[in-house]
Amino acid sequence: PAIACIIPAAGIGQRMQAGKPKQYLSLQGKTILEHSVARLAAIPSLGPIWLVLAADDAYFDATPLAQSTVTRVKGGAERMHSVLNALHFIDEHQYPWVLVHDAARPLVRQSDISLLLQRCIDTGHGGILACRVRDTMKRGERYVSETVDREHLWHALTPQLFPTALLKAALRDAISQGIAVTDEASAMEWARHTVLLVEGRSDNIKITQPTDLALAAFYLEQMAE
Ligand code: CTP
Ligand code: MG
Repeated sequence: PAIACIIPAAGIGQRMQAGKPKQYLSLQGKTILEHSVARLAAIPSLGPIWLVLAADDAYFDATPLAQSTVTRVKGGAERMHSVLNALHFIDEHQYPWVLVHDAARPLVRQSDISLLLQRCIDTGHGGILACRVRDTMKRGERYVSETVDREHLWHALTPQLFPTALLKAALRDAISQGIAVTDEASAMEWARHTVLLVEGRSDNIKITQPTDLALAAFYLEQMAE
């Protein structure tokens, strides 16, 4: 089936404290955004990319992506608004599935994306890449109120893949009812749809804080070897 792609890249990267949005920081001579777009563009079974940019984006036009075939969409206040803005442009009959991938995850492997596509399309359910939690997990503030069973805890990663019509409806309804969701799966869970957990690699990190940039550079070097 035809799969549309959305890359939300309209954030300001507040936690990165970098003077510009983190997707425009350089990683081995290319912006993080270029890496993330290239990861999806390299997969023949994926369809066109809708790239969500801030209305006042001052950096995109200086990247080689400005000359590429990606379609630009204006971002919203939160990630969920940005993704819904892009979904408005995607026809669910033409593209029954939609894959959403953070601009801030430049390291995702083709093999992980292929696994996600295969699992979801085989079962008909949406799903996400996720990796298992490794540390012992505690709940509490100031002091521990309990240890949380780690066996069933996962880190939610991207890409996340869903039937386009269901994701559109779930995000629209969650937003209209004031539910805050930080990923597509949250909206789908809230709408009581099944979301598959597809185990992916833990080096598919989201660039979030300053130390992540050196880590990403290290992983990228390793991949090239
Ligand atoms: N994003 C977006 N629109 C928003 C907020 C975020 O498209 N209104 C995008 C970001 O550009 C990023 C992805 O969603 O690619 C994941 O969000 P996050 O890591 O939180 O990025 P920022 O919101 O930019 O970072 P911060 O929360 O530290 O400000
Ligand atoms: Mg954010």
